[in-house]
Amino acid sequence: MGACTVLMVSCGPKSTAVTGPKYTASEQLVQGKTIFENSCSRCHKLPDPAKHDDQGWIKTLSRMAPKAKLNDEQHQMVYDYLISVNKK
Ligand code: HEC
Repeated sequence: MGACTVLMVSCGPKSTAVTGPKYTASEQLVQGKTIFENSCSRCHKLPDPAKHDDQGWIKTLSRMAPKAKLNDEQHQMVYDYLISVNKK
């Protein structure tokens, strides 16, 4: 119960639940990078993480994560990876 109440991001029904950073551990960032590289290059070239700032990636990922069929957890890890390297 506790985990789900606190971690709304991973328990929400939709994959638009990412509203900010959550993971900072390198394990998750590495996973986020892998997911990003595998899932986000299917329809277009891999976007430059510097293309958006932290707010911009929230918006763009909430449109792209469903396209890439990411679950909330994967969505979150990709987001955290992107903002860890976007230098903004
Ligand atoms: C099913 C195909 C598909 C997948 C998978 C996909 N995209 Fe896209 N993406 C598109 C299309 C189509 C556009 C152009 C139209 C638009 O902007 O909605 C686009 C545009 C973009 C843009 C430019 C628009 C903007 O807001 O900057 C970025 C950045 C982007 N995608 C990032 C991603 C990321 C990150 C992922 C992985 C989570 C991803 N995409 C996965 C289809 C896809």
